[in-house]
Amino acid sequence: MRGMIASVIPLALAGAANASVSVDSDAKVFRLDGGGVSYAFGVDEKGYLQPLYWGPSLSPGDRLAAHAAPELSGFDPAGAMTAQEYPGQGEGLVTEPGLKAAFADGNRDLVLKYKGYHVSGETLTIDLADIDRPLTVSLNYSIDPATGIIGRNAVVRNAGAAPVRVDQIASAILTLPNQPDYRMHSFSGRHAAEWTLNTQPITSALAVLESRRGSTGHQSDPWFAIDRAGQSGEESGPVWFGALAWSGSWRISVGADNLGRVKIAGGYNPYDFSWRLKPGESLSTPIFYAGYSDHGMGEASRLMHRFQLAHILPGAPVPKLRPVLYNSWEATEFNVTEAGQMRLAEKAATIGVERFVVDDGWFGARNNDRAGLGDWVVNRAKFPNGLKPLIDKVHGLGMSFGLWVEPEMVNRDSDLYRAHPDWVLHYPGRPQTEGRNQLVLNLARDDVRAHLLKVLDDLLTQNDIQFLKWDYNRNWTEPGWPQMKPEDQQRVYVRYIQNLYSILAELRRRHPGVEIESCSGGGGRIDLGIMHYTDQVWPSDNTDPYDRLTIQDGFSHAYTPAVMMAWVTDAPNWANGRSTSLEYRFLSSMQGSLGIGANLDKWTDADFATARTMIAAYKGVRETVQRGDLYRLVPPSAGERSATLYVSRDKRQAVYFQMLHSSMRRDNPMTIALRGLNPDAGYRVRTIDGRPLPAGVPQAASGRYWMTHGVDLTQHGDFTGDALVFETEQP
Ligand code: GLA
Repeated sequence: MRGMIASVIPLALAGAANASVSVDSDAKVFRLDGGGVSYAFGVDEKGYLQPLYWGPSLSPGDRLAAHAAPELSGFDPAGAMTAQEYPGQGEGLVTEPGLKAAFADGNRDLVLKYKGYHVSGETLTIDLADIDRPLTVSLNYSIDPATGIIGRNAVVRNAGAAPVRVDQIASAILTLPNQPDYRMHSFSGRHAAEWTLNTQPITSALAVLESRRGSTGHQSDPWFAIDRAGQSGEESGPVWFGALAWSGSWRISVGADNLGRVKIAGGYNPYDFSWRLKPGESLSTPIFYAGYSDHGMGEASRLMHRFQLAHILPGAPVPKLRPVLYNSWEATEFNVTEAGQMRLAEKAATIGVERFVVDDGWFGARNNDRAGLGDWVVNRAKFPNGLKPLIDKVHGLGMSFGLWVEPEMVNRDSDLYRAHPDWVLHYPGRPQTEGRNQLVLNLARDDVRAHLLKVLDDLLTQNDIQFLKWDYNRNWTEPGWPQMKPEDQQRVYVRYIQNLYSILAELRRRHPGVEIESCSGGGGRIDLGIMHYTDQVWPSDNTDPYDRLTIQDGFSHAYTPAVMMAWVTDAPNWANGRSTSLEYRFLSSMQGSLGIGANLDKWTDADFATARTMIAAYKGVRETVQRGDLYRLVPPSAGERSATLYVSRDKRQAVYFQMLHSSMRRDNPMTIALRGLNPDAGYRVRTIDGRPLPAGVPQAASGRYWMTHGVDLTQHGDFTGDALVFETEQP
């Protein structure tokens, strides 16, 4: 019967039944519904797959239909005028293709039309095929019932007898209705200055976010959000957002076509990309996750945070809370010794640290950054009896033990490079550009993969290690893979990352007790791909607590504070020479996953006492900070102060941080209204560190009071902060 929903198949994602895929097989319309979001596409009279809708939930009975667009003019043929869900590069397409391919006979015309669908478990798959060549594309879709975040990817298959060269392949193309006022939000950055938010209008000028570096990069991040100027704000209005689960060269492009329809394409970066698809071979793309929020950027971020906790991170849907760690890097740099590390460990244990991590310098001939990378054997001059005495000591102090590694890199001055100079990415006879005196091992090679897996497996088998900080301190320059045929060398962009993921997955399988941090000179490798294999990330080498407020504010737009490591380090800070109080440094770091990176040998008794108080206080709120809902009440960009609020999912606890950059106009006060509390519950309030409540803050009031009247907290001085804990009166 025309218009009837022929089959409704609930998606089993997360065990919830309130998501569905609806297939109207007569009208050939497909709908994904979940988390208050509908996403629909359909097949038109000519067989093109067209986007139909993405936004707040439609009613179950709402009918949608796809119709092929007519030619607009001689310059705009019908095929190119029809908005397509995943167009092939052919038929005069002038927007970003889903797939661009070249056949062995030189034909580069690819027209993808609908062939059929099937549903397997949580995934709806749509099959497309070229109109006459044996090349098919399967588009996979899923939707998370809790957040409405959809996951999309594409798989191209060569069913022909000759190879086909894939020049460009997107995970997904997303389409927004024609509106004049879209704005795109994205990140820019560099080493020690990551996570700067930028906002720009979306026009017909294509905006490209990308990494050409072989890895995610500091310069941008595979995340975007789009809202509407004048309609959307931090807590109101529509926001479409998405992130690509890929840690290699990536690209997200956003722009309006000649009819004003906004298209977002995300996937492998086509820059220097090529994959010669052999007969019978297929190539899949990473997953492009995308969501919609009706309540501004704040809710968009909270949806992403919940989604990451529930589906992306190891241990999902309930990843383990992050322990308070100590890391020796800023204290000792390469000058690690058994005695020095033991001394730091003893001191760290007295303040409540739960994990002790030895950073760079423990292995090979690693006395500076010019030697040793690649040789993952203990430096016997520094640890005469191996790591065991230190590890036993750390365990005896009640802490878990962690170690820094940078497996993908090699110094020329290393035994590994001397034995295998051909293992690095390079073009024979050409210069090999170094970064931090190191070269990149070609992890796309299976022998390199096998070697690294063995070395790391041995390290974890022979030592009682609970944590690895996995670093990656340069990007690619000459990405040659000379052992491969010239036409297959560019597979390196995909194979390298696949092998990286497979090593991480295999290590986790063999050593289920080991947790891993993704670090790349700070925040150079943070994305939903690596986060699937790593428990936490290092957002930046910049540990200045005031800079960190901006870094953390940016980071939190895309990623959960649960994985956002934040160390308290020494003052003045190495990055900018700024001096701040230890309390201020703690309050900045307690807004993520707390760590200590200071030189404890230089601390006073008062410093230890402060640290003890603050770490104990953090443990009392960390579940709320790491798993709760984040409200960015006043961003650091707003002026002299900023405020963030973390509300536990049951709304029984809320943690409020108010940070004053510098007092202006005689401590000009500001009343800040909280969000997300239960209006009808009574909340008692206390300072996080047991100091008396500031004047003007009542000891208890309703959630309604805190969210309407707000908090009056006068702050005085420069770089000062306060944190208040709100707890419901009834347990
Ligand atoms: C990178 C990391 C730092 C530290 C050093 C060690 O820069 O981001 O935290 O581990 O390497 O060399």
